Amino acid sequence: MGYKFKGVFETMRSLTNILVTGGAGFIGCNFIRFLFEKVEGFNGRLINLDALTYAGNRMSLADIEAKYKGRYFFEHGDICDRVFVESLFAKYEIDTVVHFAAESHVDRSILGPEAFVKTNVMGTFTLLDVAHNAWKNNPRQDTLFHHVSTDEVFGSLGETGYFTETTPYDPRSPYSASKAASDHLAMAYNHTYGLPVTLSNCSNNYGPYQFPEKLIPLMILNMLEGKPLPVYGDGKNIRDWLYVEDHNAAVWTIMRNGKTGETYNIGGENEWENIKLLNVLIDIVCAKAVLDPAKVRGTLSYVKDRPGHDRRYAIDCSKLKRELDWKQIVSFEEGLSRTVDWYLANPQWIESIRSGEYQKWVQKNYGERG
Ligand SMILES: NC(=O)c1ccc[n+]([C@@H]2O[C@H](COP(=O)([O-])OP(=O)(O)OC[C@H]3O[C@@H](n4cnc5c(N)ncnc54)[C@H](O)[C@@H]3O)[C@@H](O)[C@H]2O)c1
Repeated sequence: MGYKFKGVFETMRSLTNILVTGGAGFIGCNFIRFLFEKVEGFNGRLINLDALTYAGNRMSLADIEAKYKGRYFFEHGDICDRVFVESLFAKYEIDTVVHFAAESHVDRSILGPEAFVKTNVMGTFTLLDVAHNAWKNNPRQDTLFHHVSTDEVFGSLGETGYFTETTPYDPRSPYSASKAASDHLAMAYNHTYGLPVTLSNCSNNYGPYQFPEKLIPLMILNMLEGKPLPVYGDGKNIRDWLYVEDHNAAVWTIMRNGKTGETYNIGGENEWENIKLLNVLIDIVCAKAVLDPAKVRGTLSYVKDRPGHDRRYAIDCSKLKRELDWKQIVSFEEGLSRTVDWYLANPQWIESIRSGEYQKWVQKNYGERG
């Protein structure tokens, strides 16, 4: 079953000259690939603004860059650089922003929060302010700023309950605090200045092109390389997992038909304890890479818990389903299988992203975990 986006948009948004921030990162590069390759009738231009931090890799879109000349543009720069961002609005007559760029790894935010405040708070502010100034001086009915955020802004749940769009914010790590601040700024630009903003809070994503510091790719690669599989605390923290393409289909659905001034939760309705997820992943990787599951299970090692580790996240995404007719279409088994296949088939990508500054940083901070 595929995604259906045919037909005329229900809103008057043109979604034509789209500034995608952070398009060289995990979700952003999948979004660009998704629009060009999976959305029938999409004729717009995508301008990818990315600072190429340790997490950004231009190689992830090398084929798209070659195939969509004249419709895809890469711009190397920082979202905090107002003059540069303004120049892009003028150069490409930007009518839409979809804002993925962020410092995104909780562990890094604990070790060095400053970059998170700079990019996630100041960077988002700069983009909002430039968009507001560009669009207010030349008012268009069809502009949109879509802000991409996380369920981590809501804090931690006990054994029951779900985050809804009205759950009060309770961020608990420097990462989630910086994302919460950016969400508030985005909605404040809507309420105060009338900037057409939509916002989404999504649960944990997985899929191809994810930087191998995040749980699923880290574990896949450690298994393939015979390294230990580090599990935080008792392994019973619970996350809700969503395949990246389903997330991007939801973002596109909201951009097409979402109401401005509204936030939408996006989730997988797919909760897993970390340790149970790992056991499923071990079976999939071992079957595909012909490894001995018992031997791989023997490398599981429980490590000191992350400070302030949120226990459980779970998303109620019924608003998005009910109002905008979105649903998840990739099952967890299918998504994990596709993800493992992708990492097995792309050693060059892994090497390219690992050979940068990241490699040194990981060795210094994590030793064997990398
Ligand atoms: N990964 C998840 O599970 C998840 C879940 C929910 C929401 N989100 C949100 O989705 C967005 C994308 O997450 P991701 O996992 O793809 O992150 P990522 O770390 O893989 O990619 C982030 C991208 O942003 C770029 N970037 C960072 N700082 C920048 C700056 N100052 N200027 C320009 N570009 C900059 C990086 O180079 C990189 O390409 C983030 O806003 C994140 O908070 C992620």
